[in-house]
Amino acid sequence: MCGIIGYTGKKQATEIIIKGLKSLEYRGYDSSGIAVFDGENIQAVKKEGRIVCLEKELETNPLSGNTAIGHTRWATHGKPSDSNAHPFVSTAHKFAVVHNGIIENYLEIKEYLQARNIHFYSQTDSEVVAHLIEYLYIGDVKDAILSAVRRLRGSFALGVISSAEPGIIFAVKKDNPLIIGKGENENYISSDITSLQKFTGSVVVLKNYQLAKVTASDIELCDFDGCEQSVETVDVSRELADDTHDFESFMEKEIREIPAALTRALKGYVSPFGEAEYWQGINRIYFIGCGTALHAGMVGKRILKKLLPELNLFAEMASEFRYDDFHIDEHTLTIAVSQSGETADTLSCIRMVKERGGKVLCVCNVPISSIVFESDFALFTNAGPEVAVASTKAYNCQLAVLTMFALDFARLKGALTKQQFEGFMADMGHLPEKAEETLKLNEFISDFSSWNYTRKSVFYLGRGLDYYVAMEGSLKLKEISYIQSEAYAAGELKHGTLALIEDGVLVMALVTQRDLLDKMHSSLIEVKSRGATIITITPFGDNAAIKDVSDYIIPIPNVTDILYPVISVIPTQLFSYYIARAKGCDIDKPRNLAKSVTVE
Ligand code: AGP
Repeated sequence: MCGIIGYTGKKQATEIIIKGLKSLEYRGYDSSGIAVFDGENIQAVKKEGRIVCLEKELETNPLSGNTAIGHTRWATHGKPSDSNAHPFVSTAHKFAVVHNGIIENYLEIKEYLQARNIHFYSQTDSEVVAHLIEYLYIGDVKDAILSAVRRLRGSFALGVISSAEPGIIFAVKKDNPLIIGKGENENYISSDITSLQKFTGSVVVLKNYQLAKVTASDIELCDFDGCEQSVETVDVSRELADDTHDFESFMEKEIREIPAALTRALKGYVSPFGEAEYWQGINRIYFIGCGTALHAGMVGKRILKKLLPELNLFAEMASEFRYDDFHIDEHTLTIAVSQSGETADTLSCIRMVKERGGKVLCVCNVPISSIVFESDFALFTNAGPEVAVASTKAYNCQLAVLTMFALDFARLKGALTKQQFEGFMADMGHLPEKAEETLKLNEFISDFSSWNYTRKSVFYLGRGLDYYVAMEGSLKLKEISYIQSEAYAAGELKHGTLALIEDGVLVMALVTQRDLLDKMHSSLIEVKSRGATIITITPFGDNAAIKDVSDYIIPIPNVTDILYPVISVIPTQLFSYYIARAKGCDIDKPRNLAKSVTVE
């Protein structure tokens, strides 16, 4: 949801900014831009489209200078266009600003400034920031920025350069991520660590309500009242995620990495239950997240329910949970699931829960992220960097970690004996090899996709845990192939949606739960007799009834019932990938989306 990068040092800044923007492109890719101080003035080049369009534009309009800011945009206010692209340059060309977030009171500020003859050239909320800073400037850039941000409502990470104080980047954070990278006689700002890893392994993570004054050799921090704050440096790994290696896309690479990622997720699990008493009193757990992370939370809830039915358990969309009237007290635990650790809806739930006295544990893939910083406890998925907008390996690892947590909690609560617990753990230890085995279905799924990519509609059906995997499979297909798809709890279909089943509809059935086998079979007969083609993902391929009702079987390996989601989702991930490839879609950067959704 918009990416910010900045550089100040001795090198030509443009090349560095472009490199950084390419790593940040997953955050938004409808337009991009760069502003450079060329020694005399601020010059900006902005272009609708991917970063390559900006690069092309820079060939005809090159920019030169050692201090610059850049931005890649996911449109909120104003359609993707050159003029709505960032950076925004103020009327007298004294300031250039890049922004990630939403300025809620921008209309008010815009009207105020327009009444003072300040001309606006975009439909964005962000443009007001550049003009407001210039309007408030009376000789000190930091003071002008501080007075401006004190007047802004909403969420914002800002990068600002000024011709009045060359060589300096001002960085401001409120509710959106911003990180400073420390180099040798050069420094950077960025929305994430990944884009900085190619430049440095030493970072300063800005906290909420902080402003940083960044020069090539120094970093100063203060709060919004201008009071100085200490600078804490963190060393980060420099593992790069910028290359697809031998794969055609990041998504394909990331699916292939599932076994290795699962190994890391399992090995990396550290029980949070140090102080048993702290956890014993918990009687209500909310699993919250968005999209894929929410689907993982739903599976986590269902597994915990099987183990501890007496608990009050809920899985809720973060965007709804935030504004609903759920009961929260000191006996409530909220488990926030997030790959990026920056999803705004999830983050605002965490803040709300903490304000109301609840405990928060997050399951996150990015250790240096806002969600990790703001939670009381963190469990890391250790899936490794995930670049494709469509989440795959992170989901498998979220499931693995949530299952470990559920088993661990059940043991703490006395619902599992040590022996039972160890039995489950041993089964979990086989998940990486089972995932590897499942990936061998690749060829069949690729062929099957090449015969089916022209389908207009695909239904995913399941019951119990399979229903949640159906939801994830369906989301993945919609997201990257743009095929209309719905997931249904198989038993619910006959209450209305069955009317949509006709000749030519493809149904992907998930049948992994032994106790629901007969019920699933009945539901499949209902769709089969209305003309659907059924492809069944199941370990029960030899079951005569399932074989009979299915047109095709995707045979997955046997695992313990509660572990099936980790494995059964893999064929759905491969299916979405191959369908999107057959359709010629942009697999890693689907239309209208961004990897990290940092606006509510
Ligand atoms: C997954 O394929 C999606 N791109 C999306 O649903 C994603 O899972 C969601 O936006 C949540 O992101 P997070 O895990 O980074 O919080």
